[in-house]
Formats: sequence, structure tokens, C-alpha cells
Amino acid sequence: MQKLLRICIFFCTFAAIMTRLSVNINKVATLRNARGGNLPNVEQFAVDCERFGAEGITVHPRPDERHIRRADVLAIKSLITTEFNIEGNPEPAFIDLVLSVCPHQVTLVPDAREQLTSNHGWDTRAHLAKLSAIIQRFKQQGIRVSVFVDPDPIMVAYAVKAGADRVELYTGPYAEVYEHNPAEAIAMYRGAAEKAHELGIGLNAGHDLNLKNLSAFVQAFPWVDEVSIGQALIADALYLGIEETIKQYKYALSNSN
Ligand code: PXP
Repeated sequence: MQKLLRICIFFCTFAAIMTRLSVNINKVATLRNARGGNLPNVEQFAVDCERFGAEGITVHPRPDERHIRRADVLAIKSLITTEFNIEGNPEPAFIDLVLSVCPHQVTLVPDAREQLTSNHGWDTRAHLAKLSAIIQRFKQQGIRVSVFVDPDPIMVAYAVKAGADRVELYTGPYAEVYEHNPAEAIAMYRGAAEKAHELGIGLNAGHDLNLKNLSAFVQAFPWVDEVSIGQALIADALYLGIEETIKQYKYALSNSN
């Protein structure tokens, strides 16, 4: 009995420190929308990602609904059992959607309407008052708030001042530099990741993470709570299948903690 308890404690501790994988399913919606029907079925895909081990589902609805639609967001909330993370620019329609869905987490991203994909974080110092007000609104509804920032310790510190629960480090530049200089790529993120740890704010990471660069990032900063990955993961799934792909991303995460 005691042995069983020790094993349970070991697994619970291990699970608690593991970086969690949230699968961003936007690209699945892009494929569906290309034809106008319901193939692939985005909602079923979300459920299957969970079944194959994803610890969360991320969606990034945009005002033009070019991938995930408002209706998808509403449907997915009642279908999944793991963490639901909704990312986006907190314009009024986005705020209303998030408040009506009440996901586990909202990630605030300063992306312009016409932007192809997010390519920078908030200036949390310049937008301190605006962010503080929005964060408070979401937190009052029990929604955890993460703020997308560039790897700058000052931006992390101001996210804390604004009341954010977490920051998500924009890892686009990490991925780019990692291709030719992995050590430099890690060094670029050390200050911000350590500042988050020091100030006790949760840490997420996302953008351009893939099977080549993921382990090194989480190995360097094992306190990363969650990564959200879309583009590379869905592209890998074309070759490996989604079940095997999720297994490989989770292995990359477990391998590094
Ligand atoms: N985090 C944020 C804030 C994003 O906007 C995106 C892209 O939608 C991601 C993470 C995932 O990036 P990628 O698709 O490159 O994995």
C-alpha cells in the first residue's frame, strides 16, 4: 500500500512539473474552410487531440473568421475536457466571446486584423492601464489570463503589474536563431524566462516551436508551464498522423524536464 502511495506521489509530482502541450488547431480549420464543408471536422479533431494525449486545445479566432470561427469556439468548449485556451486581440467582440465561453485560459495577443500571424508581443508598459482593466474583467470570471510578450524582462515585469497570471513568450525569434545558433537562441530568452520565475508569474511559450527546437527550450527553462503549438505540429501530422505526432511532441517535452 505504501509502495503504491509512493508511486502515486512520484507520478503526481512528475505530472505537475511537466510542461503541458496545448495543440493549436487553427490550421485544421483553415483546411476545412478551403472547401466550405465540414472536412476535416475541427471539433472532432480537438477531441481526438485530447484522446491522443494533448493537455489542452488552443484556438485563435480572428475577426474575419478565416480559420477558427465563433461557432467552433462555442462548440469546442462543451466537447473537450482538458484546458481550453483562446488567444486573440481583446477587441470588444473577442472579449464578449471569451466571457460567454469562459475558457480555462485567455491569451491576449496584440495582432492586427490584417496580420498573417502574431509576430510580436505587447508593450505591457505602454498598455499597462488597458491591459490591467481587461485582465481584471477576465479574472473576475475565473479565467486565467496570459499575456503574449517578446522576450524582454521589462515586458514580463509590467505584465505582472497588470495582474496577468502568466506570460506567453513569443518564440518566433527563438526558432529563427535556433536554426544556426542554438546557444544564442536560448541566451536571448534567459532574462525574460528568469524574470518570470523570479516574479512568480506562470510561463507559457509559443510560435514556431517544433520537434527540433522544443526540447532545448524546455530543458533551459524547465518551469515553462505550457507550450501551444500549431503550424509545425499539424504539418508533422501530415506525415506521421496526429496520434504519433502528439506522442513525439510529448516525448520532446518529457525528455527535457
Ligand atoms: N501563440 C500565439 C499567441 C499565436 O498567435 C500562435 C499562432 O496562432 C501560436 C502560439 C502558435 O504558433 P505556431 O502555429 O507557429 O505553432
